[in-house]
Amino acid sequence: NEEKYPNNDMEIQVQIQSLPRAKYWVGDDLYKFQGFWIPTVAIPGIIKFQTQFKARDSDLLVTSFPKCGTTWLKSLVFMISNRSIYSISDNPLTKLNPHDIVPSLEYNVYRFKPYQDLEILPNPRIFSTHTPHPLLPSSIINSKSKIVYMSRNLLDQFVSRWHFKGRLKVQGASTSISEAFEMFHSGVDGFGPSWEHVLSYWKASLENPNKVLFLKYEEVKENPTFYVKELGDFLGYPFSEKEVKLGMIEEIAKFCSFENMKNLEVNKSGKRAIAHSFENNAYFRKGEVGDWANYFSPSMAKRAIKLMDDKFSGSGLSF
Ligand code: A3P
Repeated sequence: NEEKYPNNDMEIQVQIQSLPRAKYWVGDDLYKFQGFWIPTVAIPGIIKFQTQFKARDSDLLVTSFPKCGTTWLKSLVFMISNRSIYSISDNPLTKLNPHDIVPSLEYNVYRFKPYQDLEILPNPRIFSTHTPHPLLPSSIINSKSKIVYMSRNLLDQFVSRWHFKGRLKVQGASTSISEAFEMFHSGVDGFGPSWEHVLSYWKASLENPNKVLFLKYEEVKENPTFYVKELGDFLGYPFSEKEVKLGMIEEIAKFCSFENMKNLEVNKSGKRAIAHSFENNAYFRKGEVGDWANYFSPSMAKRAIKLMDDKFSGSGLSF
């Protein structure tokens, strides 16, 4: 994978044109790239990520399929790994949206030139990516860097994405939920098929549990303090007895909760510092489990449940 693609923007664009193409949301086509349907704008960034990224053993990688809780996981990983530097009440997340603190490799770091010299960043560097596991550069796989993956019931993910995309009404056009559902169901879905994305990280976590921690949105929501502790252990930032006694785990879980993050001034009224189309409040909608039932027709629900059963059967994974 890593050798076949040029590093030059023009040549990348030419090469992309020869890939299978599919219509997605208005103005946002997908190409079948290395086995996954990737949004046009993300492909050059992924190629550069694959060919240029040099992982450090101390790097922390926040990974997810879009709308599965990336924003939340960014906050948790940042707070846990930086707690010796910042106090809870005065940390960078009170002034910046999590996406401006933990940059996306394909959408921020390698999309805009120049973004930032990655070499001068202090440890631990924290990055995020929606790149499926099989497409990650060998530099990450071969280093001792840690990968955390946030998964979610894909029906809730779909509803979340439909609302999110609905904010981007390109030239007044929008995609109905039934049209969007057909794309989701066919697997022609940005970074998808969604179930293949989830299964790729699930399998990697089973094969190498010290390298990949697989989380479920629903479980973290149910018991956030358990997972703050779990993340601390996994990432190499375990909580000391003193910190446990001081209630540090609870404080981080509470700070990163949907209610707290949504109501921070920066997330209520701010805009992304890094050039992007969305206002910060777009990343905080409802934060609930099971919201899909409010949007699916009975026939959509039947088809979606069957699809999930088929795709996840035998994997040991269910939502
Ligand atoms: P909903 O649209 O269902 O509310 P991502 O961060 O991957 O873009 O995912 C966005 C989803 O995560 C949205 O789901 C959003 O509300 C939810 N979310 C954002 N921050 C959260 C938090 N701190 N806790 C729980 N859910 C959160």
